[in-house]
This record gives sequence, structure tokens and C-alpha cells, in this order.
Amino acid sequence: MVVPHGGRLVDRVLKGDERQEALERVHLLPKLELSRDLAFEVENIATGVFSPLEGFLGREDLESVLDHGRLANDVPWTIPIVLDISEDVASSIRDELVLCYRGEPVAIMEVEEVYAYDRVGMALGVYGTTSEEHPGVLKVNGMKDLLVAGKVDLLNQVPSPFPKYKLSPKETRVLFELKGWRTVVGFQTRNVPHIGHEYVQKTALTFVDGLFINPVIGRKKPGDFKDEVIIAAYEALMENYYLRDTAVLAVLQMEMRYAGPREAVHHAIVRKNFGCTHFIVGRDHAGVGNFYPPYAAQEIFEDYPDIGIVPLFFRSFFYCRRCGGVVNEKVCPHGEEYRVSFSGTKLRRTLKGEAEEGGVLIRPEVEEVIRSYPEPFVEGR
Ligand code: ADX
Repeated sequence: MVVPHGGRLVDRVLKGDERQEALERVHLLPKLELSRDLAFEVENIATGVFSPLEGFLGREDLESVLDHGRLANDVPWTIPIVLDISEDVASSIRDELVLCYRGEPVAIMEVEEVYAYDRVGMALGVYGTTSEEHPGVLKVNGMKDLLVAGKVDLLNQVPSPFPKYKLSPKETRVLFELKGWRTVVGFQTRNVPHIGHEYVQKTALTFVDGLFINPVIGRKKPGDFKDEVIIAAYEALMENYYLRDTAVLAVLQMEMRYAGPREAVHHAIVRKNFGCTHFIVGRDHAGVGNFYPPYAAQEIFEDYPDIGIVPLFFRSFFYCRRCGGVVNEKVCPHGEEYRVSFSGTKLRRTLKGEAEEGGVLIRPEVEEVIRSYPEPFVEGR
């Protein structure tokens, strides 16, 4: 079984007497209400999804992540996991802080540090731009002025929109073992599956024992598919086109950041913690607009020979009318004029009736499910 990132699977879920004791202290302590995405981050830390993190990053680690893409102890880490607070909240904080979601306590945080940070440095470090056209930059610019760092201990699970598909790294590791999978490839997605996604997964699966399909559930930008549509679309795809013994679907409750290369590394680390030995990185992984070159998310792995999970790189799959099948530029000698490319953007346009690619872009069962939702896209501008 693959060793968790940093050497050990973090488990900061309080149980039994320890939990009871902590719950009794809760009413005496200052409280901070979290957004759903931050509550998910707390749970991800406590259940080992973000191993080796045990809490929200302090200044030294944050600076090291932004400057070098590594924690201060040199372990690869590319995305800041931070908790922002206002000056007002900061002034009321003592040694412990109760983190709440919808008024219910989720975790107790041991406050180690409260510090100021530089929004421009954060935007450039993570996203490589300060343009507000980038949804990640927009979010950084909306963050509160200070960050609070410290370890978290989980008191209660955050209610999941998809309990049936929620598995912790501890659970997936047992599951993969029960299935007898010695090698498992992780697949990240924020989309409903088109045929390109299916081929990239099945090509990878040809070489390993199992496939872990792990859609990201949480905040996404307007125009992306809604979480429930992504799950329903995968259910339809798996029921009709996948073998039960070789593929597992589980959600990853984490927001999309659209940080391209840096997010690809983060996505790989998280899947390593779930027990994957391999991870798929295709074209423009976690990209948005034209902010990142199409294969930058593959090239960044050269800086991480010590990452501990094998990235599997794929050129873009497309349908070739002359080959009469789904291929990619490594294996198809025919010209552009025969090719029908697959992309999330094209799929959205087809479903909105703005483009016609009938039949080759998406499985009919998947299309039918998506069309059963009157509004399948995240709203807003
Ligand atoms: S992402 O933001 O989560 O990366 P998406 O869900 O579309 O977006 O992609 C999931 C994974 O499939 C990524 O690794 C992406 O590069 C890969 N992918 C998407 N489309 C194709 C394609 N046509 N050919 C090969 N890989 C693809």
C-alpha cells in the first residue's frame, strides 16, 4: 500500500472520552463560523486527506509553499491551506477556537499564530497571475486580512451532500486492499464525463488494477456543472460502461481553485493519501481560460521527483473520422479536418444547443441524465 504523503496518515478525529471532554469545553470558547468549503478543509485535514498537514498553515510554511512549492520541511505542497479571519475576530481569539458550520461545532483549533499576508504574493505564487478574470485570484482578493494557523481536532463530521459516495483515506485504503488492488489510478474531475474522459480513464486502467474516480464536490465557478449533475452523470456512465470490479466512485469534498499546474500536484498528493499509486494528468488539468499552457500541469511534475505517486500523462483524446475511433495525437496520423475534439466547453455548448456534435462527444445515457436537469450549470456571472 502506498505510503501517505509525509510518511503517516493524519488522524485528528476525536473519539470517545476525548471528544466528550472537548465538547464540554466548547461553550466556553470563542467561535468562528466557517463557509462550507472551509468546513470541508477542516475535515480533510483531520481525516488525513491533506496529510501531512495537521492544521492550517503558519507563516513559515505558507511562505515556503508560495516560494518553493514545498512545506518548510521540504515535503512537496503547492496549495496554501489557510484560514482567513478579520481583525475583529483576531482580537477575540485566545488559545483555542471552535470552528463551526451552520452553528454546529466542527472542530477545535489550537491557535498557534495569527499573521498578515500579502494578497498579491498569494495570487502570483498560486495562480501565476493577479488578473481578476481568474476565479482563484478573485477569491484571494475577497479574503479577510489575517490568517490564523494551528492544529485542528474534529468534533463532528460536516454534513455531506453525497454521503453514499463519501469515503475517507482510511476507508479507501481498506477498500482497495479488499478488492485486491495493488495499483490504483486516481482520476480528478470537475466535469460530467465526455468520451475523452472515459478513454483517458480506461487507457490508464489497462495498466493498473483499479480506477478511483474522484470528482471534486464544492465551490466551482459559474458555468461549471453542478455537483449533483456530475454525480448522476457518472452513475449513468459507470452503470452502462464500467466493470464493477475495477472502478470505484467517491467524492472529494474540496473546492476547485483552477490553479492549473500547482493544483495538479495538489490533486496528485491528495489521491496518494487515498491510497492511489498512479494519477492521471491530461490536457489543461485544473485550468481555466487560457491562463496555463495546455501541458504545464504535466511539466511541473519534473520539479517533484520525490512526490511518491506516479503521474500518468496523456495527450488530448479526440475522435478521428478516418481512424473511426477515439485516439490521440501520439497514435493518429490524420489531419485536423478529421478530428472532433472533446472539451468541457464544447460539451456545455452542445447541451445548450449552441453546437452540434451528436453522438461522438458523450454517451447517450449520460446525455439523457444531464438533460433531465432543467439547470445543470452553476449559476452566477
Ligand atoms: S479538471 O479541472 O478537473 O482538470 P476535467 O474534469 O475536465 O477538468 O478533467 C479531468 C482530467 O481529465 C484532467 O486530468 C484533464 O486533463 C483530463 N482530460 C480532460 N479532457 C481530456 C481529453 N480530451 N483527453 C485527455 N485528457 C483529458
